[in-house]
Amino acid sequence: MPDLVHPLTQWYRANARDLPWRRDGFSAWGVLVSEFMLQQTQVATVLPYFERFLRAFPDLASLAAADSDAVLKQWEGLGYYSRARRLQECARIIVAQGGGVPDDFDALAALPGIGAYTAAAIASIAFGRYYPVVDGNVLRVQARLRALPDDIGSAAVKKRLYESLLETIRRVADPSAFNQAQMELGALICLPRPPRCSECPLREWCRALALGAA
Ligand code: ADE
Repeated sequence: MPDLVHPLTQWYRANARDLPWRRDGFSAWGVLVSEFMLQQTQVATVLPYFERFLRAFPDLASLAAADSDAVLKQWEGLGYYSRARRLQECARIIVAQGGGVPDDFDALAALPGIGAYTAAAIASIAFGRYYPVVDGNVLRVQARLRALPDDIGSAAVKKRLYESLLETIRRVADPSAFNQAQMELGALICLPRPPRCSECPLREWCRALALGAA
């Protein structure tokens, strides 16, 4: 995997969508909100809600203090409303702890609505920490690269992938870009069906493509 890092991140720098949470110096609060919204919803759908939500709740304190109906109102249309409830619980817990969004994987993963994948995304994107994201897009990209047999969502496969990506991410310069590059490749090129292999920066390395199975 290490020799793929360079072409992958080069491609990302040239092709990544300009998304608010990718801008330099974007707040950890904004990153946390974006990752809650992106848990079950695609980027294009999230964007207008995200901008509106951050205008209504520009920081942790404003969401923590908000009326829960006002929060649901801002979430209206995005679906999976338990996310909004958990996001507000997160804000309240963090405010009660007296700090900002924790710069610590375990503290993040202990918060409501934040599993290993969201904790890794926030830790890497907001704080530049070296935790690999393994979400649906990354699983698909990696399963194809490695020509893994079916059932790519099994816990055992995820764990092996996580460990392999942990080795790789330790050697990259920018863990946020590494994680988001894989997510972006899955969202734009390595689509479920049909993938756009002719445009893929990793086609030389893709075992599924070589086997005619992509
Ligand atoms: N899905 C989850 N997190 C994402 C991010 N930071 N960028 C693009 N897609 C995502």
